[in-house]
Amino acid sequence: MKAKVLVVGCTGQTGRIIVEKLLANNQVDIRYCSRRQEQVDEWQAEGKEAVLLDLNEPRTFGIALAGIDRLFILTGYTVDMLLQTKTLTDAAVKANVSHIVHWGIFANWDCTEGHFAWHQLVETYIKASGIAWTNLHPNYFMENLINVTPIVDNKFVMFSGKARWGWTSLDDAASVAATVLEEGEKKHNGKSYWLSTEALNGDEAAEILSEELECKITCDIREPEELETLFNSGNTDVEITYAKNAVDIMRQIQDGRMTYMGTIRDDVPYVTGKASTTFREWVRQHKAELLPV
Ligand SMILES: NC(=O)c1ccc[n+]([C@@H]2O[C@H](COP(=O)([O-])OP(=O)(O)OC[C@H]3O[C@@H](n4cnc5c(N)ncnc54)[C@H](OP(=O)(O)O)[C@@H]3O)[C@@H](O)[C@H]2O)c1
Repeated sequence: MKAKVLVVGCTGQTGRIIVEKLLANNQVDIRYCSRRQEQVDEWQAEGKEAVLLDLNEPRTFGIALAGIDRLFILTGYTVDMLLQTKTLTDAAVKANVSHIVHWGIFANWDCTEGHFAWHQLVETYIKASGIAWTNLHPNYFMENLINVTPIVDNKFVMFSGKARWGWTSLDDAASVAATVLEEGEKKHNGKSYWLSTEALNGDEAAEILSEELECKITCDIREPEELETLFNSGNTDVEITYAKNAVDIMRQIQDGRMTYMGTIRDDVPYVTGKASTTFREWVRQHKAELLPV
């Protein structure tokens, strides 16, 4: 019998790729979930097994989790993630889920930045639940150059000055998640996988982008205070508590408390058996999405 897997966030950029990989490999059964009933209806009309799951409404958890063996937990950029993961983990205990795979962040254990600390708190809670666990620790997504700070007028913005980040391809990180969900707790219980393939600052990334896209791309290097001003302007829909912490990440990377964000720690080949995607390879693969109009 195949294990049944629930991927939280499967309409998002990460979850969507994980589901594609699980479908392609056909080693587990998938139950789709969304907080939007119309999305659930659409999946069901396509013959997929799908349920309503709203992370802010624990009354949706029982039906969503009944009969699930392996649960992938992904949350968004709000302080609600604390309560969401706590209540979902409790529900997983009641539903006899055998393995939780958590999508976290790349941080040292004694990190003091808020959003990263929230991830660490829920990881500790999951470990204490008694359910087998695997924690994934992706660093900066290469896809941020498409979805968060895209190239506009041959420039992209970075708010941490000249500091380096460790970049990871979302496809590689999702491959790790899919492999863990397929192989399950017997192989992956109690493991933390670190996903940071290549260390580059904005100028170094811009140089590779220029070479591969065959046009001059520059990094518009900004300071953390400028990100704070942007958030305070009210022109973004970023939650205020998260926003404060996002600025703090930039400050801590610059002042040395989080320079480890610019380091390489790459477990992709160990889990998937494949080489990680370099930044240059990723740019080649995504030329059409990156090329400035
Ligand atoms: N960006 C980076 O460089 C980076 C690096 C490391 C780690 N991370 C971590 O990655 C995570 C975000 O992943 P992502 O980029 O894949 O997110 P994303 O594309 O924004 O997708 C978020 C998903 O969560 C779902 N969701 C949101 N609120 C929900 C709720 N109340 N109930 C049920 N589902 C809900 C969304 O569903 P809808 O379709 O209904 O909105 C969507 O499917 C964060 O935890 C972040 O810390 C990011």
